[in-house]
Amino acid sequence: MKRLIGVIFSLFLIPALIFGEQSYNGSTYDRSTPGLWRGSMCLLKLNRLYQPTEENLQSREWFQDSKFGLFIHWGPYSVLEKDEWVLEKSKLSLEDYENLATSRFYPTKFDPAAWVALAKEAGMKYITITSKHHDGFAMWATKQNDWNVVNASPYGADLLKLLADECHRQGIKLFFYYSQLDWHHSDYFPLGITGHYSGRSLSGDFSKYLDYMDAQLTELLTGYGEIAGIWFDGMWDKPTADWRLMQTYSLIHQLQPAALVGSNHHLTPFDGEDIQMFEKDLPGQCTQEFSNESTTISALPLEMCETINNSWGYNSNDKSFKSTKDLIHYLVKAAGNNANFLLNIGPCPDGTVQSEFVERLQELGGWLRKNGKSIYETRGGPIGPMSWGVVTQKRNKIYLHILKWEKEPLSIPNLGNIIRASIWPSGSQVALAQDGDSLVLHLSEDDVDEIDTIIELELAEDL
Ligand code: GLC
Repeated sequence: MKRLIGVIFSLFLIPALIFGEQSYNGSTYDRSTPGLWRGSMCLLKLNRLYQPTEENLQSREWFQDSKFGLFIHWGPYSVLEKDEWVLEKSKLSLEDYENLATSRFYPTKFDPAAWVALAKEAGMKYITITSKHHDGFAMWATKQNDWNVVNASPYGADLLKLLADECHRQGIKLFFYYSQLDWHHSDYFPLGITGHYSGRSLSGDFSKYLDYMDAQLTELLTGYGEIAGIWFDGMWDKPTADWRLMQTYSLIHQLQPAALVGSNHHLTPFDGEDIQMFEKDLPGQCTQEFSNESTTISALPLEMCETINNSWGYNSNDKSFKSTKDLIHYLVKAAGNNANFLLNIGPCPDGTVQSEFVERLQELGGWLRKNGKSIYETRGGPIGPMSWGVVTQKRNKIYLHILKWEKEPLSIPNLGNIIRASIWPSGSQVALAQDGDSLVLHLSEDDVDEIDTIIELELAEDL
C-alpha cells in the first residue's frame, strides 16, 4: 500500500509541485488549468516541456528593455568583399576559399575597444557577433577542429575572446550568432538546400555533426564569461532534418540559465527558445522570399534585424546605404511593434568599420540621447501601428511617434485619464479634445519634427 501511495505521489504530485505554478509551451503562458491536473499532464510532456528559470525570465525583461543591439557579421569572407555568402554564390571550392580568404584573413586594425565604444555611442545595449557563419569557420580558438581563426588564419588570436573581454570591461552584453548550417564540415550530411559546390566528401554522419556543434557551443558558453544568448541561423537549410533541438537548447540552458536562445528559422518558436526573431521584417510582416506566412507572433520577446546597406558581411560594391532617418524609423517601428532592433555592420577585412556605418551609428546615438526615453524600457502599444506611426508605453506614459504627419488633427482611441499631452522633448503643450470615443490632438506645424514627432501623454495612473 505504502508503495502504491508512493507511486501515485511521484506520478501526480511531484510534477504538480514542480510544474503547478505555471505551464509554458515555449510561446505562451497558460495559467488557466488547475495546478494538479496540469502537473499530471506535464508527466506526459516531461521530455519536451521547457521551464525557463527565474534568471532567464529576468534576462528576457532586460532584453525587452534594451531595445537596440549591434549585429556584426565578420569572418574570412570579408577579405573577398562580396558578403558572407561568397563561398556559395561564387561557387568556390573549399580549397579556393582557403587560398583566397582564410589564409589572408589578417585584421591588423581590429580594435575591440573601438567596436564596443561605437555600439555604446549608438545607444546600443548589446552586441550579437557571428561566432561561426555558414562557411563553418570558427572565429575563436575551438578545439574541435582546425577550421578556426587561430589555426587557419595568419591572425592567430582568438577574436571572440578579445571582443568578449572588452564587452565585459565596458559593460555591454554579448550574444553569439551560430550557424547550424555548415558548408565545411564533412558530417553535415546529407547536404541541405545550399553548399553543393564546396567539394565536401559526399558521406557523413549528421549526429556526429550535431555532437560537434554541441561541443563548440559548450566552448562558447564556458570560456567567454557571461553570454547573453545564442542566435541560431541556418536550420532552414535542412528543414526536415532532426536537429535535436531540445538536447542543444537544454545544454545551453544548463550551462548558462540566463542565456537567451533564439533561432532565425522563420517559424513559430519551438519549445526551449526564449526570443523570437524576424529577419528584415517587422513582426508579422512577410516581405521577404524566406518569410513564412504561417509564422505566428509568440509571447516571447521579439527582435527584428536589418542591414545598413543590403549586405550582412562586408561588400565593397554595395553602396545603397539607408539614411539615418530611415534607420531611426526602423528602430521606432520595431519598438512600436514591441520588438528590439538589431542593426548590422559588416566590418572590413582589416577590422575597421567603414565610415558610412560609423556616421549613421553616431547619428542614431545622438537621436537616442534626446529621445531614448520614448524607446528604452517601453513596450509596444497600447494601440497598434497606425497609418501615421506607432505607439510605445511605459508606466503612466504613452508616446505617440508620428513618423508621417498627415496635416490633419490626430484622432486616436480614448486611452484613459490623460492629464497632460506635450511634445517630447520640448514640453510644449498639445491641445486635446474629446470626440465621442476618440481623442483628437491638434498639432501646430511648428511642433512637427522631420524625423519623429513624439507626443507624450501622461496618464493619472500606470497602465
Ligand atoms: C540569413 C543569411 C545570413 C545572415 C542572416 C542574418 O539567414 O543566410 O547570411 O547571417 O540571414 O539574419
